[in-house]
Amino acid sequence: MNEQIASIQTAALELIAAASDERSLDGARIAVLGKKGTLSLAGALIKDIPNEEKAAFGQSLNSARTAITEALEGKQKTLQAIADNAALAGIDLTLPARALHTGSLHPLTLIRDEAIQILRRMGFALADGPEIEDEYHCFDALNTPADHPARNEKDTFYFDSGKLLRTHTSSVQIRTMESSAPPIRIIAPGSAYRRDEIDATHLSVFNQLEGLFVDTDVTLPDLKGTLEYFLREMFGTSTEVRFRPHFFPFTEPSFEIDVKLQVKGQAPRWIEVAGCGMVDPAVFGSINATRKDKALDPEKVTGFAFGMGLDRLAMIRWGIKDIRLLIENDIRFLAQFA
Ligand code: PHE
Repeated sequence: MNEQIASIQTAALELIAAASDERSLDGARIAVLGKKGTLSLAGALIKDIPNEEKAAFGQSLNSARTAITEALEGKQKTLQAIADNAALAGIDLTLPARALHTGSLHPLTLIRDEAIQILRRMGFALADGPEIEDEYHCFDALNTPADHPARNEKDTFYFDSGKLLRTHTSSVQIRTMESSAPPIRIIAPGSAYRRDEIDATHLSVFNQLEGLFVDTDVTLPDLKGTLEYFLREMFGTSTEVRFRPHFFPFTEPSFEIDVKLQVKGQAPRWIEVAGCGMVDPAVFGSINATRKDKALDPEKVTGFAFGMGLDRLAMIRWGIKDIRLLIENDIRFLAQFA
C-alpha cells in the first residue's frame, strides 16, 4: 500500500513540475487533491485496511499530502514570479516618476481678483449684469442718443432681436441704479465686446471693471482720490497717474486716465487704463423715469463712475506686449504665472 502512495506522490510531483501556468497547476491540484483526485481516492481505502496497518498507512498518506502541498505552493510562487517579470518587461523602474502639473490662475483672473480686493477694501460691493444687453441699458439710459457713433452697427454685435453684446460694462450702472437706492458703491467686472480689428492691443472681446459711487456730496476729488489710490496700490506708490479731459455721454466732466509706464530700456510713456467722470444728471433722470420715483434726485445726489480695462492692467503689470497672448492659452505663456 505504501508503494501505491509513493507512486501517486511521484506522479503528482511530475505533474506539478510539468505545469507551465496557473491553469495547468490548478488542474494538477484537482487531479491529485480534488474530491476524486488520486491521493483522495487512495485515502478513502483506509477503511479497508487491517487495523495494525492503519497507522503506517495514515502516516505515508500525510507525508505524501505534505510533500505535494509544498510542491504546489513552491510552483505557485515560481509561476507568479515569472508572470510578474513578464508584466514588468520593458518598464524601467529606475526612471524618475512623471511630474505632476498643477495648473495656475490666468493672468486676467489674477489681476481681476487683485482689483476687486483693493476696491472692496474701499467699500465697493460686487454687482453683475447680462452680457447680452438691450440698447436701452447699453446706450439710451446712458445718455447716448441713437445718432451717437458708438451705436453704429459696425461698432458692436447686434442680434436679430435687437439685443446686442454690451460694448461696455457701464450698463451695470443702470441696472444697479434701477434696483437699489443711494448710497450705491459697486464694482462690476466682466466682458465687453466691440467689432475692433484684432491687433496687438485690440480684441473683439475684452474685460472691463466698472465702478459706480452715488451718494450725497460725492465730488470730483473723491473720484480722483479713489482712482489714484487704486492705481498706486496696483502698480506701486510712486506710479504717476494723469487725468486727461475727455467726453463720455454719461459723465460730465469726463476724463481718461493714463498711467506712466516705465519699461526697462524704453522711454517712459503714458498708457490709457480707464475712462471716468461725474455721473451726468441726465442719467439719473432716465432712471427715475423707469423707477417712477425720485430715488436719484439730481438735486440731492451726485456720483462718479469709472470703467477700467482689465486686459490693459494685466499688460502693464507683467509687461505683456501683445493682448492676443491673453486669449491664446499657450501653456508656455500661462506657466509663467504659476
Ligand atoms: N464705458 C466707458 C468705455 O467703455 C468707460 C467709462 C465708464 C467712462 C464709466 C466713464 C464712466 O469707454
